[in-house]
Amino acid sequence: MELRRVVSLPPYVFSEVNELKVAARRAGRDVIDLGFGNPDIASPAVAVDKLAEAVRNPRNHRYSASRGIPKLRQAVAQLYLRRFGVELDPEREVVSTIGAKEGLSHLMWVLVGPGDTALSPSPSYPIHMYAPVFAGAKVELIRLDRLGRQGTASGDELLGALEEAWAAAAPKPRVAILSFPHNPTTVCVDLEAMTRAVAWAREREVLLVHDFAYSDTAFDGFRPPSILEVPGAMECAVELYTLTKSFSMAGWRVAFLVGNAEVVAGLSQLKSYLDYGTFQPIQIAATVAMNEAPEYPAQVSAIYQSRRDVLCDGLSRIGWEVDRPRGTMFVWAPLPAAYAEMGSLDFSKYLVAEAAVATSPGVGFGPGGEGSVRFALIENEQRIAQAVRSLRRTLRKL
Ligand SMILES: Cc1ncc(COP(=O)(O)O)c(C=O)c1O
Repeated sequence: MELRRVVSLPPYVFSEVNELKVAARRAGRDVIDLGFGNPDIASPAVAVDKLAEAVRNPRNHRYSASRGIPKLRQAVAQLYLRRFGVELDPEREVVSTIGAKEGLSHLMWVLVGPGDTALSPSPSYPIHMYAPVFAGAKVELIRLDRLGRQGTASGDELLGALEEAWAAAAPKPRVAILSFPHNPTTVCVDLEAMTRAVAWAREREVLLVHDFAYSDTAFDGFRPPSILEVPGAMECAVELYTLTKSFSMAGWRVAFLVGNAEVVAGLSQLKSYLDYGTFQPIQIAATVAMNEAPEYPAQVSAIYQSRRDVLCDGLSRIGWEVDRPRGTMFVWAPLPAAYAEMGSLDFSKYLVAEAAVATSPGVGFGPGGEGSVRFALIENEQRIAQAVRSLRRTLRKL
């Protein structure tokens, strides 16, 4: 039987490295895992305590509201006002999702179908490319690897990439997915570039979907802009905001789609058919996290910044030059020249086998990802320093 929606999916290359890691660990090796972007930092204590309390109340054991309980939606509206100066109507402009990944995937069902085209960044977090495909649409890639190097992309660079993708798309796209700070390249944009992207979308009559997963993971005083800070963005943009990285609540599966009311209503309608929302005690605890631990995202981000420094300084000391990211929980590292011929998958496998350090091969993030590996900052500073020492011993050609 043909499994239609999955038959054309390429093999998930990350699992090849992961299997090597698991096998090495089984054989008793201490592998330092900087592969998967799975946060290791604890969730806020107030949320954990509230969850334990709320779960004991049988009233919370029933089906919850698929679009999120009112207090949860109010809490994210307050967070947006406090954090970005953006006013959101919690009734019309906010819907809760079971993580940003679920939200983005089902949003594509709402927005595109067979015969449509969506623009998606590449390299990218894999669901950015596959969500439109699961909905039956075609994807044209916005080549972020052609923007300067990591660091900050200018408005001109972003517009150039959008225009190039637009020109190649047939039929003309209805939707463009963006995500800054960007996983995996760590490219960031400022409000000026966002403003240019919004003006472009209005002119081209494209809906912008901004995945803002690293809204709070930013360093050295950089403050990533919400797309909704741009005047007029409410007419042509929606944004995914998640507690996964900001509040280090990955397993809880709490995120939101916010912005254009018509699109929010569309996703709410679809989700009313698909799910009953996140387990209510989790929604209650997530509300408490946003209301009572507003300082937590900055604390989490400071931890990632220190880890970034240990990794970037360490790699530089051993002769592997990488750019120092301004945001995300990753370091995007071009393969050292002497190893470039191996390609990112073989190089990642080599690092697990020889250095006991797991990374993600760039090729797994789609076209433009080859030639780099991604380090995720999900082990503590001591472990990252240990990884650098091990890399120094292994990479003798540096
Ligand atoms: C760009 C991006 N979007 C979404 C997610 C996942 O978010 P969530 O846990 O809310 O589904 C990640 C996680 O790594 C990510 O990098």
